[in-house]
Amino acid sequence: MTPREHLDTAHIPGGDDLKLYRRGDDHIIVLDRNELMNSRMSGSEEALATMAAERLKGRAGQRWLIGGYGMGFTLRAALRSLAGDAAVEVVELVPEIIDWARGPMETLTDGCLDDPRVSVTLGDVGEAIGKARGKFDAILLDVDNGPDGLVRAANDGLYGTQGIAAARAALKPGGVVAYWSAGPDRAFTKRLKTSGMAVDEVTVRARANGKGPRHTIWFASR
Ligand SMILES: C[S@@+](CC[C@H](N)C(=O)[O-])C[C@H]1O[C@@H](n2cnc3c(N)ncnc32)[C@H](O)[C@@H]1O
Repeated sequence: MTPREHLDTAHIPGGDDLKLYRRGDDHIIVLDRNELMNSRMSGSEEALATMAAERLKGRAGQRWLIGGYGMGFTLRAALRSLAGDAAVEVVELVPEIIDWARGPMETLTDGCLDDPRVSVTLGDVGEAIGKARGKFDAILLDVDNGPDGLVRAANDGLYGTQGIAAARAALKPGGVVAYWSAGPDRAFTKRLKTSGMAVDEVTVRARANGKGPRHTIWFASR
């Protein structure tokens, strides 16, 4: 097997360390000893954006919030799905993630951060949601491995009753908040359903070719 080469380490504010590795043409981001991301698996990250876009078809001047960037699969899928009048705000907690996208993973990034529809803010997506009122058509959240704060404990707030209410308040009427997860979570489904939004829980395969592990995405519409 091709050996894994360690390229860089970043500290997550309020969390652990993220390490970037290269193996052949692939990149891997590791949190503690768990693979948080692998550039070979992008199907469900892309589905987060494409399935949100299907639900919002026909709306003009869409404003999206994506948190966080990771390897940008969700962002690039969003840009392919959205019209020229759209605006996409990306909020990423770890500055090195954006440095890696512009550096060692530049080929994968494919210029998406320089698309005129995109703005990037370094910070906490929870804060961006908390400040917004009726602003977004879509909020796409893929910051942990599921609806609990894996990357940092403070992310737990995104998935509780108050965090869900804040996301709902940040949406325009008819807007959609979507949450990515490595698997189902019945308690989270229940919390979403009591938020006053219409909830659709979808199972998606990890790989773009429809194979690999099954991931869960919740779409909740205001
Ligand atoms: C699993 S990756 C996202 C994968 C992404 N959907 C893609 O297509 O590549 C999670 C990202 O969320 C970022 N993150 C974690 N907590 C965050 C927060 N509270 N606000 C913004 N970004 C956060 C991490 O640094 C990491 O870049």
